[in-house]
Amino acid sequence: MRSILKPVKSPLTRAIIGASTILSLATLIFALWFGITESKEEKTNFKLGVYGSLFGAIAGAVVGGLTGYDAGKGSANKKSGVVASSQDNASQDKVWKDWRNFVVDRKVQESQEITSFYLKPQDQGELTDFKPGQFLTIKLDIPDQARPVIRTYSLSDYENGSGYYRLSIKKEGSPKGLDVPPGVASNFMHDQIHEGSVIPAKPPNGKFFIDINSSTPAVLISNGVGITPMISMAKAVIKTSSDRASANGVDRHVWFLHGARNGEYHAFREAMVDLEKQHPNLHIHYKYSRPRPEDEGHFHSQGYVDKDLIESQIIPQIQEISGSSNAEYFLCGSPKFMDSLRSGLSELGVAEDKVFFESFSKGGKTKGAAPSAPAGESTSGEVTQAEVVFAASGKMAIWSPDQGTLLDFAEVEGIDPPSSCRQGVCLTCMCELNEGEVDYLEPPTTEPDEGNVLICICRPKTNKIVLNL
Ligand SMILES: Cc1cc2nc3c(=O)[nH]c(=O)nc-3n(C[C@H](O)[C@H](O)[C@H](O)COP(=O)(O)OP(=O)(O)OC[C@H]3O[C@@H](n4cnc5c(N)ncnc54)[C@H](O)[C@@H]3O)c2cc1C
Ligand code: FES
Repeated sequence: MRSILKPVKSPLTRAIIGASTILSLATLIFALWFGITESKEEKTNFKLGVYGSLFGAIAGAVVGGLTGYDAGKGSANKKSGVVASSQDNASQDKVWKDWRNFVVDRKVQESQEITSFYLKPQDQGELTDFKPGQFLTIKLDIPDQARPVIRTYSLSDYENGSGYYRLSIKKEGSPKGLDVPPGVASNFMHDQIHEGSVIPAKPPNGKFFIDINSSTPAVLISNGVGITPMISMAKAVIKTSSDRASANGVDRHVWFLHGARNGEYHAFREAMVDLEKQHPNLHIHYKYSRPRPEDEGHFHSQGYVDKDLIESQIIPQIQEISGSSNAEYFLCGSPKFMDSLRSGLSELGVAEDKVFFESFSKGGKTKGAAPSAPAGESTSGEVTQAEVVFAASGKMAIWSPDQGTLLDFAEVEGIDPPSSCRQGVCLTCMCELNEGEVDYLEPPTTEPDEGNVLICICRPKTNKIVLNL
C-alpha cells in the first residue's frame, strides 16, 4: 500500500486513502465473520466489527501519514544533493547514467569560429557537479550519418548553481590542402542546433582537471579552442581561492596565457579581462600571432605562447609573488603547440609531474603516454595474430598487427562500435572484455570500468580475445 500512496503528493489525501482502504478491508473481514458465526453472538460480533473497522481506519491514516513523512524526506535529499538510487527517477537524480536530454537554452557566438551552447536538463532536475577541466559527451542525430555522432566537449564555464552546462565549440573546417568534408559534429552544432534543440549527453567525465584544494600557483596555457577547459579551471581557482583567502588569508595565484591569431579569433577575451580586474590573483597574458590594427591595446605581446614567454615573464612573476618557482602547468591546444611547450617546460627544469595536458585531436600525445609500438609489433607478448570474437555480433575474425587497434579492426569487420576521441580519453568506445588480454598502445587517459577496455587504443595481447561487441 505504501508504494501506492507514495506518489500522492498531499499528506491529507494519503491519510484519507489509507484510512478508507483499511476501513473497507476491516468491514469486509467482519462481514464474513458475521455470516459464519451463530446469531446469539451477534451483539459481540457487531461491537467487534465496529471497533475493528475504527482501528483499521486509524491504522490506515497512520500508514498514509508515515508514507507522507518518507516522501518528504525524499525531496529533502534531492535538495541537499543526495543521489537518488532509482534509474527511472532520472529527473530527480543529480547524477545520471548513460544519456540524459539537455535543451539548448542559449546559443552565443564567442568569436569568428567558436560558439557557446548553454545546456539545461530537459527534466529540469539538478546538475551533477563536475571538476574544472572535465568534458561532456554528446550524441547528435545528423542526417546523412549512418548512426548517431558522438563527440566530447570540455565544460567551458564554472558557475556554481547556475543550472546549466556550457560547451564552446569551434566550427572545424576542412584541413588546408585536403579535399575532405569539414567537421561533421561541430558544423552541425553551429548550423543546425538552435535554442530549444534537444541534445543527449552523458555525465561529466575526464581526468584533466585542476585540484581546487591545492594552493600551488597554476599556469594555464592554451591556444585556439583549447581555451575552453582553462576558463573553467581559472574560474574555479579564483572562486575557491577567494573563499580560502577570506578564511585564512591564503590566495592561490593563477596565470592565464592564451594564444590566438587576432581579436577576431579570440573567444572570451573581455570576460576574462573583467575577471582579472576583480581578482588580483588572476594574471592574464594574451599573445597574438597576426594582430589587426584594431586589436591594439587588447593583447600583451606578438608571436606564439612559448618557452621564452614563460622563462622571461611568468617564472619571474611566480618567484616574486610566492618566493619560489614551484608551479603546476596545464596545457590545452593544438598538438604542435603542446609538444613545443612540453619540451620547453622540460628544458626549463619543470618536473614532468607538474605538467598536465589534454589534446582535443588525435595528433597530440596524452599525459604519461608510452611510445606507440611500431606496426607489426606488440608492446609485450608479441602476438602475431589473434582470434577476435565479437560475441554480441556473433562474428569471429583473425587479427594481425598491421590491422591496428581493435577499434580499427572492428570497423573493418563491419561491427561499427561507437567512438569519438579515438585516443583513450572519452570512454565512448569502452567495451567489455569477456576473455583474453589486451595491450595498450598508450595508457588510457581515463580509466575504463572494471572488466572493460578502450578498444581505440589497444590490440590483442593473447591469441584469443572475446569482446562483448
Ligand atoms: C576531451 C576532449 C575535449 C574537447 N573539447 C572541445 C571543446 O571544448 N571545443 C571544441 O570545439 N572541441 C573540443 N574537442 C574536439 C571535439 O570533440 C571534436 O573532435 C571536434 O569538434 C571535431 O569534431 P567534428 O565532428 O566537427 O569533426 P570530424 O568530422 O571528426 O573531423 C575532424 C577534422 O577532420 C577533417 N577530416 C574529415 N575527413 C577527413 C579525412 N578523410 N582525412 C583527413 N581529415 C579529415 C575534418 O575536415 C575536420 O577538420 C574536444 C575533444 C576531446 C577529446
Ligand atoms: S573513442 Fe574515446 S576513449 Fe576510445
